[in-house]
Order: sequence, then C-alpha cells, then structure tokens
Amino acid sequence: MKAVLASKNQKKLKELREILTDFDITVLLQSEVGVDVDVEETGDTFEENAKLKAEAVRDASRTISISDDSGLVVEALDGEPGVYSARYGGEDLTDTERWQLLLEKMQGKENRSAKFVSVICCAFPNGDLLFARGECLGEIATQGTGDGGFGYDPVFYLPDLGKTMAQLTAEEKHKISHRGNALRVLKTELENYLNGTKQ
Ligand code: IMP
Repeated sequence: MKAVLASKNQKKLKELREILTDFDITVLLQSEVGVDVDVEETGDTFEENAKLKAEAVRDASRTISISDDSGLVVEALDGEPGVYSARYGGEDLTDTERWQLLLEKMQGKENRSAKFVSVICCAFPNGDLLFARGECLGEIATQGTGDGGFGYDPVFYLPDLGKTMAQLTAEEKHKISHRGNALRVLKTELENYLNGTKQ
C-alpha cells in the first residue's frame, strides 16, 4: 500500500518513516506527489486536527494519506500545552525555548505527571477514515537532558528507564513512544480494514 504522509515537520516525518519501515506501507512525502498543503490546525482535539490534516492531503493528492497530530499533556497545567504543543509560547520559539517555558510554568509544582499523545488518521480516497491513538506516560523533569529526538524530549522523563526521551536511541524511542504505539494500533486497524474491504 502507498500512502502520503500529511506532515512537513522533518523530525516527525523521519520518525514516521522509520517506524513504518516495519509495515507493508510505502510512504511518500507530499513533495514526491507534487502536493504542498499547509493545514491550519483549528481543532480542539488531537483527533480533529489529525482528521483535518489527513483529509486535506488526501483531497489534494487523491491518494491514501496518513497524518499524526501529537502533543504533550501535563496534568498540573490542566492538560497544557496539549493541541497547542507546537505553538506553545508563540510561533517563533525554538524547541529549547519552548521546553524552557514549560519548566518555568512547572516551577514549584509537585505533580510532574505528563503524557505524550499521538493520534494518527488514515484517510482513504473513498472517504473512509481510520484513527489510532497512542500514549506514553512520563514526568516533566526539572531540567533538560539529552540531545536525541525533538520537541519536549529533553524534559520528558521516563521513570522506568531512568532517562529522558532525548537520551534514548531512535530505536528505543520508537518502541515506547506515543507515535510508535499509535502506529502499532494503526497497523491492526489497517489489516482489519483491508481484509474487510477485500471480501
Ligand atoms: P503537531 O502534531 O504538528 O501539531 O505538533 C506536535 C508538537 O508536539 C511538536 O511540535 C512537539 O512540540 C510536540 N511533540 C509531538 N511529539 C513529540 C515527541 O515525540 N517528542 C517531543 N515533542 C513532541
């Protein structure tokens, strides 16, 4: 199966491609199918935004598309930054400035529980949609450590591993990450869907 990835975030694309190499899916970039779609993420939920992105790219490419909408949900901040994770603190901040802002907001908070969430949407040219959600539970560290991954990885601490997400190899991250978990759910959803449509 061939599918276009509905994202321009280079680091996210790299992760999606790496994880999808285990599946029987040939992933194409928007640039490879002559499509250049920028979707405004106006939804209030990861599901709504994933759907907006997948549908826009499917409509422009007339090909199966796969999108990911993801973010960091922090308990002590009432779920912030959530769907606004990519824009937290303003459009112009670097990844480092964004997690530094998060650390400032977390100063003095005892509850450090947080989770990464990824919702993947697969949109088919016939209008069918598949959704898969993956989560990864952790804590917000008190300082940034590690230089792997992207985004909030340096401050996302995994108590079981004793490391932040940014201290894991790419392979280690994919095994436990929200995106890896969502893609594994999607794989089952896709298998069921494709078996069902073949009958
Ligand atoms: P969007 O899905 O393009 O709206 O952006 C998701 C944002 O959430 C990213 O820009 C990051 O700030 C954050 N994020 C999502 N996944 C990860 C991850 O695996 N590590 C660190 N930050 C992430």
